[in-house]
Amino acid sequence: MLVSAKEMLIKARKEHYAVGQFNINNLEWTKAILQTAQELNAPVILGVSEGAGKYMCGYTTIVGMVKGMIENLGITVPVALHLDHGTFEGAKACINAGFSSIMFDGSHYPIDENLKLTTALVNTCDVLGISLEAEVGAIGGEEDGVVGMGECADPKECKLIADLGVTMLAAGIGNIHGKYPANWAGLSFETLEAINKEVGDMPLVLHGGTGIPEDMVKKAISLGVAKVNVNTECQLAFSAAVREYIEQGKDLQGKGFDPRKVLAPGVEAIKATVKEKMEIFGCIGKA
Ligand code: 13P
Repeated sequence: MLVSAKEMLIKARKEHYAVGQFNINNLEWTKAILQTAQELNAPVILGVSEGAGKYMCGYTTIVGMVKGMIENLGITVPVALHLDHGTFEGAKACINAGFSSIMFDGSHYPIDENLKLTTALVNTCDVLGISLEAEVGAIGGEEDGVVGMGECADPKECKLIADLGVTMLAAGIGNIHGKYPANWAGLSFETLEAINKEVGDMPLVLHGGTGIPEDMVKKAISLGVAKVNVNTECQLAFSAAVREYIEQGKDLQGKGFDPRKVLAPGVEAIKATVKEKMEIFGCIGKA
């Protein structure tokens, strides 16, 4: 079922677990994540960056693919199709294309501009039953060529954005996209606690889910995080598994060159990664 992320996140926040957002890149990725969620009876969010949207031939192509898979694979768990780190224009395009959830990332604007642009999307999303994620305090690392600094969000600014009526809020707490450097200081729970206090029971979003130690993820969930985003970890698992297949010369044996066979180990690796993450997030059996 393609649904807004609102209900699944309110439930997760109330019951102290998190729903995973796993970014998709192609058909194999999408199928692997949907099948794992169904197998584990877990709600799931499919994340699409604007770059991945272009790569997959546009948002309407993605909506068609995801709806088709939900129908033809018999997926009955709640699935949200979500724009990840959208621009204002990207958000409008995804709303028109039929996405069920949108992230508008106005974190790089001055707060007044972020407030103005987020406000402009709140009503539309509300009327259409689409969930809306906003962001305060840039997440560090690199995402589609945009490099953020990993700052900690100002809790007062978080409250201003939360009060607009968004569904969920991403706030920087020292997290970064991609692999964490060896000298990473860890998540700032002080900041998270302060944000949590300001925004009441709003579901919070932890970006940069790759490589955050399990105990930190669990502590973040206990402090209001109800959605954790994972992208790089699936990519690393996929490419390592496909590399092993090729290095073992399996593509040269029999019909091993069949693209479905070449990619199969990568698909299994994504499934294992998604399962591992869902176990940590506590969302298994929560559909
Ligand atoms: P990672 O690539 O670090 O897992 O982050 C994903 C993310 O936050 C997508 O918005």
